[in-house]
Amino acid sequence: MSGVPAPAVLYGAQELRAFRASLSIAKRPVVFVPTMGDLHAGHLSLVRHAADLGPVIVSIFVNPTQFGEGEDFDRYPRNLEVDRARLATLGVAAIFAPAADEIYNEEAATWVDVDALRGRLCDAHRPGHFRGVTTVVTKLFNLVQPDVAVFGQKDAQQCLVLYRMVRDLHLPIEMVVAPTVRDDDGLALSSRNRFLSSSDRRRALGLSRALRRGVQALAEGVQSTAEIEQAMAEVLVGEDVDYLDLRSLPRLDHEPVVADHVVLAGAMRISGTRLIDNISLRRVGDRFDPAPLIPAADVNEVADRLRERGTFAVLSDPPG
Ligand code: PAF
Repeated sequence: MSGVPAPAVLYGAQELRAFRASLSIAKRPVVFVPTMGDLHAGHLSLVRHAADLGPVIVSIFVNPTQFGEGEDFDRYPRNLEVDRARLATLGVAAIFAPAADEIYNEEAATWVDVDALRGRLCDAHRPGHFRGVTTVVTKLFNLVQPDVAVFGQKDAQQCLVLYRMVRDLHLPIEMVVAPTVRDDDGLALSSRNRFLSSSDRRRALGLSRALRRGVQALAEGVQSTAEIEQAMAEVLVGEDVDYLDLRSLPRLDHEPVVADHVVLAGAMRISGTRLIDNISLRRVGDRFDPAPLIPAADVNEVADRLRERGTFAVLSDPPG
């Protein structure tokens, strides 16, 4: 036992609004980490990034509208008490865990749909998925009213779509994109990894290996997108790959010659489990360095922007 009390769980919108109002008194930025639960070290790292800025609200909601026909909505792991215990040591202010009808009433007929990045990467394979994500995140933003929201880079296209949405709708929210957390063997952490048998898991390692092969090709000075994609594809021969691409940022275009700001991104299916991963890079002279997906994506930059706004009386010092 850590001796730290587990965070309060708020189930209803009214309860959440009252709690949110109580946080405003401290004039610190309220930081939101939306999740679908089954929290692993990747989620906990998002929470740690969030906690550097201000009080944190974590939502746990398995959003039905972002799952397509035949996807894993029903088997998606749900265990609120385990998640709550995992958050206990991190000083989370509250967990928002609404029931589905709190978010979508029977007559709900309003969607938020970002008309960009369509037909690209995951959108080509999961039609309607991002409409479900942008709709639920808008609803959650309206309920939680955060000053900052933290997302994980593993869902690169999700981050890009949400960033676009935040800007297009003038939402007064700063977005932090936290780095992907990996197991020692390189596998990006995901709630779906639990569905992999040990032999599936060995195959799954091919995805991060393929992306690293792409990074290596860039380091060798290869300038043709097709050649880099070919080098990555060779690592995953025989696997069920949705895509394994080099795209320019922020629009995820497929350009024949490598652009200056790019993402290597892949999605594959193993025994019915779909895995995604990516690495983003920027050209610096004649080499490519790791680079954020979106501007001002890290906690320190967002802390500076919040300080410049001057609205908040207290802001934790940024780490390091
Ligand atoms: O990344 C996720 O877990 C989900 O897509 C999100 C952002 C919580 C929306 O349901």
